[in-house]
Amino acid sequence: MNIALPAGAYEVRQWLQGAAHIAVLTGAGISAESGVPTFREAQTGYWAQFRPEDMATEAGFRAHPRRVWDWYQHRRNLLAGVHPNAGHVALAQFQQQHPGRLTLITQNVDGLHQRAGSIGTLCLHGDIFADRWLDTPRNCCHIDHAVAGHPPYCDRCGNLVRPGVVWFGEPLPYATLEAAQQAARTCELMLVVGTAGAVYPAAGLAQVARQACARVAIINPAASDLDDVAHALLSGTAGSVLPALLAGV
Ligand code: APR
Repeated sequence: MNIALPAGAYEVRQWLQGAAHIAVLTGAGISAESGVPTFREAQTGYWAQFRPEDMATEAGFRAHPRRVWDWYQHRRNLLAGVHPNAGHVALAQFQQQHPGRLTLITQNVDGLHQRAGSIGTLCLHGDIFADRWLDTPRNCCHIDHAVAGHPPYCDRCGNLVRPGVVWFGEPLPYATLEAAQQAARTCELMLVVGTAGAVYPAAGLAQVARQACARVAIINPAASDLDDVAHALLSGTAGSVLPALLAGV
């Protein structure tokens, strides 16, 4: 094993080796080494530049649809130019080598886990590349027929296209959340990677796992709101820790 692994990693490797079912909860930090900004980091996070209520709520979109649409377009363009990093790849390879043993749950909407080859990723917060109507579509609204604009719209009823992400105040996709909670309840080990642990119900999955007697280990270069829930804190980046941690398990 790589001797650069942080303190506590040897123990977590033993838990990995003994676990028939592993759940992994990821957040924006796992994509940071691909060049994707996180949300809450001082200076560099999106929420250091923008207010979440302006850019990530239905009310913010209705108030300034062009501004919000253009920001998501900017993020889509950025994502088109980046690649999965060693952290995404290590998880995908583990899933391929151990079919059915690792359930991957992500708060990320960037598609990088899927591009790395991960299987059955549970995307709690949707998909930034998916378009959907803002209001319940009438017969006239077909997403393929949306008229180009900022945002695209229905030229018959005026319905607006919005990104298929979960905004603050909106419910998570029900079946996806159910599957994630089931994984949290039944796993023997949960790895929590690159999340501040500030947004629920996603962050609550670590507590669900802990209450169900799973081991919980956090991989993050900084402190997170979930540190008290964890049995082990591995201080390091996802791209450096995950490949060494998962190698040969
Ligand atoms: N490897 C691992 N963790 C990292 C790395 C890295 N290379 N770089 C940064 N981090 C950690 C930070 O220390 C921080 O704890 O990633 C975390 C990122 O936290 P947030 O920016 O709050 O992202 P996240 O927890 O995913 O946010 C949850 O909030 O705004 C919403 O919908 C958005 O899904 C998002 C949700």
